[in-house]
Amino acid sequence: MAKRPFRNRLNDLSPKEWLKFQKSWFIHNPPPRRKDVIRHPAKFPETLAQEFIEFFTKRGQVVLDPMVGTGSTLVACLRSGRHGVGIELNPDYAGIARQVVEDERASLSPEAAKLRAEVITGDAMHAAEYDLPPVDYVFTSPPYWDMLRARGAQTQRQRRTRPDLDVYYSDDPADLGNIEDYQVFLGRLVDVYARLRPLIRPGAYLTIIVKNVKKGGRIYPLAWDLGKRLSQFYTLKDERIWCQDNIRLAPYGMGNAWVSNTLHHYCLQFRHEPPDGA
Ligand SMILES: C[S@@+](CC[C@H](N)C(=O)[O-])C[C@H]1O[C@@H](n2cnc3c(N)ncnc32)[C@H](O)[C@@H]1O
Repeated sequence: MAKRPFRNRLNDLSPKEWLKFQKSWFIHNPPPRRKDVIRHPAKFPETLAQEFIEFFTKRGQVVLDPMVGTGSTLVACLRSGRHGVGIELNPDYAGIARQVVEDERASLSPEAAKLRAEVITGDAMHAAEYDLPPVDYVFTSPPYWDMLRARGAQTQRQRRTRPDLDVYYSDDPADLGNIEDYQVFLGRLVDVYARLRPLIRPGAYLTIIVKNVKKGGRIYPLAWDLGKRLSQFYTLKDERIWCQDNIRLAPYGMGNAWVSNTLHHYCLQFRHEPPDGA
């Protein structure tokens, strides 16, 4: 019997490439960062963004990152031939993102010059006011609650000794990383993503990279809470677990108590589908 041709409605990948992405966990060790983006305390690698964008979109489609930081998602869009729009609250990070995007364009083919790669300085909560094009995919990562302000964090201790590096994102009250109360933070975060729904094409996916948070000897299951709460607005499909295996282990709690070195993030997949029963 003749083999049926592979009809791919979602992306431009071959069946082999598609299958590779279907594993529910992966190891991705970030390559070294450009000097100007080190200032930002928590960026994800462009290379990781590109893998997701190439799975969840076709060339020429539009990707939104409502908290774009220093522009990793937009760089990944340019490299993969997608249009990208990012929103960032901190004007300094938005400025770095614009520069990073321009540098990336200069290093790519003239085709890439035709792609939209726009950084809007603004509040993700007001995304609907920014005249965005219809969105085919959302790829993003929020502040992990107010974790950057936690005293004990090892990476933060190192950053405090370097005046050129930020320890947290900003002092802006609209910055979700400044909300102290966990439930208030969670509610606002869910609100940001829920308000994007009218901007997102039906059938499109959202990927949100997030971690469970440890604070004062307690776990706040941010990834799981977000999965549950946001399921009111989008269908939760599943997670892919991003593991890092190039980080030196610290002896937290050794001899006394179980405290893990948390070296994984949840990449939560949601889909814009009609509500149940519709
Ligand atoms: C985890 S970082 C994102 C980093 C980004 N993925 C990158 O690779 O550079 C979260 C970002 O959200 C921004 N942010 C916090 N509250 C925001 C809001 N209300 N609207 C837009 N951006 C916000 C912070 O300034 C920070 O840059």
